[in-house]
Amino acid sequence: MAKGYLQRKASWEILLKVSSGIYSDHALEKVVKYYNFNSLDIAFITELSFGCIRYRNLLDLWIDHISRISHQKQPPKLRWLLHIGLYQLLKMDKIPFSAAISSTVEVAKRTELKGLAGTVNAILRNTIRNIKKENFPKISSNEMERLSYLESLPLWLVNEIVNWLGIEEAKNVVKAFNKKPSIDLRINSLKTDLNKFLKELNDCNINAEPINQLNDGVALNSNPRSIKSLPGYKDGMWVVQDRSSQWIAPLLNPMKGEKILDACSAPGSKTTHLAALANDDAEILAVDRSEKRLKILQSNLERLNIKSVKTFKADATSLIDLRPNLISYFDKILIDAPCSGIGTFARNPDMRWSLSKDKIDQLIILQEKLLESIFPLLKRNGILVYSTCTICPEENNLLIKKFLSKNKELKLESERQILPRFDSPGDGFYAAKISYK
Ligand SMILES: C[S@@+](CC[C@H](N)C(=O)[O-])C[C@H]1O[C@@H](n2cnc3c(N)ncnc32)[C@H](O)[C@@H]1O
Repeated sequence: MAKGYLQRKASWEILLKVSSGIYSDHALEKVVKYYNFNSLDIAFITELSFGCIRYRNLLDLWIDHISRISHQKQPPKLRWLLHIGLYQLLKMDKIPFSAAISSTVEVAKRTELKGLAGTVNAILRNTIRNIKKENFPKISSNEMERLSYLESLPLWLVNEIVNWLGIEEAKNVVKAFNKKPSIDLRINSLKTDLNKFLKELNDCNINAEPINQLNDGVALNSNPRSIKSLPGYKDGMWVVQDRSSQWIAPLLNPMKGEKILDACSAPGSKTTHLAALANDDAEILAVDRSEKRLKILQSNLERLNIKSVKTFKADATSLIDLRPNLISYFDKILIDAPCSGIGTFARNPDMRWSLSKDKIDQLIILQEKLLESIFPLLKRNGILVYSTCTICPEENNLLIKKFLSKNKELKLESERQILPRFDSPGDGFYAAKISYK
């Protein structure tokens, strides 16, 4: 058996699962659990499978360059296996060409692609010859088309991002979609403190450091085999939460005794942060329309031993009809709206391929509706924070501008857009802090 065959097979199986509609992180988790890989293998499989998902356009371009049959006409299972081989040749410099080819061809030989093993071998060998001769696929000189191939994004989305940010900014941002995402934790300040937790990690030889400007943030510098095996997980000492997401709850400055609504709350990264900041002594209502996600929130509350949160499964746009007694009830409201998630593309490599302009338009309608229908639940002198993990202005500052122009009693206190950056960690995020005078 060729060395590394099983890792290639597992990576290919992840691509098959993702192409059938399963999210990449779920597919990875399932496959890795099935084979019981060690942490080095998991890191390799993650890099290979997520890389193939990210760079789909580029890999297809190479198939079209090398093979007589275009990528659209390849049997899908063969196309994904070619991606596994091509990605290693084009993007993983530490893997010798020979190892990349033999292990990938072996996957063909040992699966239903047996009859196509020769084709896989020929296409990959031919690719090496072309790389050595610097005979690369021709790419249009149009900058948007180049970005769409080289950074691998649907062309419509590149055009949108260039419209939003201009070409120079767009180049940096789309490059950031292909970076390895950081793993950030937030300590549960109800149970531990930063120095104590960092020491515990250190004692277990886990390389971690505090995150600048975040009181409770911890950056993990090494990949653990399983995140849940880190010290303190069962005892609720920490949650996984991206550093950009960690600055949302503090915007509300939650205080003891306050009534706080988290309108789109599950799985609860920000709900639990709000509760911790108020020393578990506020009255927090966590609403979400997804029962499944609310169950995860509930189990997070139990694990972190948080008592000040009540959960409620509801469509937040109907909250006012379901609970009219909540009109003008809350001191603070967070709407962490469902969004296009473009700021989290590095973490969710499949998302770019399932998003569409139509989906964004539907989300904008929902976001407007959420703002309009939830705002009447806010008390006078209260604070409303609206946040998303996207960089699309129609879901962010433009939406807020329109909302404020219709509700003159509201005032924008602050607004911040974090763009994802190739050279620094963290997702893209947006938040507007609004006061009701
Ligand atoms: C961005 S996620 C929230 C993440 C969460 N705030 C956190 O920090 O863990 C958006 C959530 O909105 C929920 N959602 C979408 N539409 C909703 C609606 N109309 N009413 C209530 N929840 C909704 C989704 O189920 C999803 O859990």
